[in-house]
Order: sequence, then C-alpha cells, then structure tokens
Amino acid sequence: MHDTSRTPAPLPGTVTVLRHSDFAAQTAAALADSILAAIARSGSAVVALSGGATPAPVLAALAARDLPWEKLIFTFGDERAVPPDHADSNYRMAHAALLSHAAARGARVVRIQGELPPETAARNCEDTLRQIASERGENPLRHDVLMLGLGADGHTASLFPGTAALSEKNRWVVPNFVPKLSAWRITFTYPLINAAREVHFLVNDASKEAVIQQVLLGEGGHPAGAVRPAEGRVIWHLGHLAK
Ligand code: 6PG
Repeated sequence: MHDTSRTPAPLPGTVTVLRHSDFAAQTAAALADSILAAIARSGSAVVALSGGATPAPVLAALAARDLPWEKLIFTFGDERAVPPDHADSNYRMAHAALLSHAAARGARVVRIQGELPPETAARNCEDTLRQIASERGENPLRHDVLMLGLGADGHTASLFPGTAALSEKNRWVVPNFVPKLSAWRITFTYPLINAAREVHFLVNDASKEAVIQQVLLGEGGHPAGAVRPAEGRVIWHLGHLAK
C-alpha cells in the first residue's frame, strides 16, 4: 500500500516557506506528497534532483517511503563535468542515497553524462528531455517536482552569478563555465526551471539565511531570485539551522 498522506498543495504562483525541525524527514514527506499528487493527476511524475551536499539525507528519507517508483522519472538540475563515480558527481550522491533503490524498482533516470564533453552532455540530456516532453504532450517539459539548492553567492543549479547560462532563453540544458570554480558544469536553464509545476528549494545552512531573505524579497539580483515559475509554485524547505 503506498503512502496516502496528503498536505494541501499551495496555489500556483505562490511562494511557501517551511521551516522544519526534522529537515530530512519533513522535506521528504512534502516531496512524497507532491510526487503522489502528480501521479494521481497524470499517471507519472518527473522529478529533478538538486546537487551538492544538502539533498543526500532528504533523498535517503525519500527512498524509505513507499512510492510507485516505476511511475517516476528522475532528472538532474545540474551536474559537474566529472564521471559518475567521481566524488564530486551529483549522480554519485543521488545514486547512493536514492537511485540505487528507486531504479532497482523501476524508476527511470536521466543522467547528465558528466564524463562527456559538456556540450555533448548538455545536448544529449536535452534530447532525452525533449523525447519525454513529447511523450507527455508538453513543450517545454514541465517537471512536477524540481528540487534546487542555494549557494552562499545566490547561485542555484549551476546558474552562477555572472555566467553565460543566466542569459540562455531557448535551450533547456547548457554547458556553463564557472570562473570562480575554474570548472565546467552542465545545468538546466531558466526556460526549463520556470516551466516546473513545483520548485522545491532545499536549504539547511544557517549561514545562508541572509541570502535566502534577499531572494525571497527579490533583492540582490541573485540567480536564485530569477526562479519564478510562471504557472508553478515555489516551496522553500529550510532546516532548523536556517533560523
Ligand atoms: C551543485 C548544486 C548547487 C548546490 C548549491 C548548494 O551541483 O553544487 O546544484 O546548486 O545545490 O551549491 O550546495 P550545498 O547543498 O552543498 O550547500
């Protein structure tokens, strides 16, 4: 029997800020509710995973829930330009926490091929996402749940301040060189992110409180501040460390 718990879904265009005392468990519960609602609505759920360190305990808590994994399609909001077994790989993090479980139970996983040249990896990923969009009768693809993190500099996915990907208006996935890291990334763009039905920011770091408030207030010109899904809702999951 699958989870049947439900929390009322916020209305489109709204921003909801949730402060969790048990960040991993409560964020996972909310994500599971959104996933189940999407499956009830359309028969499947397209879920983008965020990278970095924050998601791992949330994804592990999600893996423990009773979900119809065969009805889920997992994508990645960004990836580092490294192989999937590299310590910096977002896929490696997500596979350890969730995908080794979910994929074993039939979930589809669209991995960004960080081992390839970034342009090739971006085009391959976008080609697959466009196939999925076509199967779902959508253009652009509308993620049911799109997870994002937040950097101290206000970046999200791999949309870093002052980088080329910020101005992409047509492609859904692009390579992006990040000078401050001296590294290439592959990232979703605003056209794809802002097509989502739900964007879930996961932040569990009190040192980011000031940048969170600036983003929420539309101040600072941060890349995360341009995440405004036209027909979607934004939910912020803040850990108890984010006072
Ligand atoms: C990445 C992420 C990035 C991340 C933030 C927060 O690939 O690094 O997509 O946007 O979410 O940098 O990272 P932490 O969770 O490690 O603080």
